Amino acid sequence: MSDSPKTERTFIAVKPDGVQRGLVGDIIARFEKRGYKLVALKMEQATEEHLKKHYADLSAKPFFAGLVKFMSSGPLVAMVWEGLDVVKQGRAMLGETNPLNSKPGSIRGDYSIDMGRNICHGSDSVESAKKEIQLWFKDSEVSNYQRANDCWVY
Ligand code: TYD
Repeated sequence: MSDSPKTERTFIAVKPDGVQRGLVGDIIARFEKRGYKLVALKMEQATEEHLKKHYADLSAKPFFAGLVKFMSSGPLVAMVWEGLDVVKQGRAMLGETNPLNSKPGSIRGDYSIDMGRNICHGSDSVESAKKEIQLWFKDSEVSNYQRANDCWVY
């Protein structure tokens, strides 16, 4: 996949609380309606070992152990979304890390009130998106399909 702006990719995950609360469809719909293209999707209950790699940058934080335990406590839905500026726009669609600072209209601002139950994850930079996509998906699990309606988005 080239690095053209339209093929930028980000890793988005509906966390176990979002799955339990039935928010998977809504979160997918928001990205689809915006014009982004879904190129990979799977549900899995991640191991603590896997999540420690995913959140390696936070390993010294006091909330790290609780975060890993919560994230491994039930199935999550892991996705890769593709499109123009999708990393930054995806973060804006999620809202702030603390849901209480998230604007209504964002996913966290609409559905959550507690930092430890903030519904979804989104990569915070193009570089971390690349790392996270590689950690969660094999190359063969990420599709390069041509979307028929792209001429109505771009
Ligand atoms: P972080 O990567 O800083 O935020 P984000 O998910 O917005 O990129 O933190 C990862 C997760 O850790 C965050 O979504 C919720 C949790 N967390 C806490 O439980 N307590 C905290 O003080 C922080 C900063 C994060």
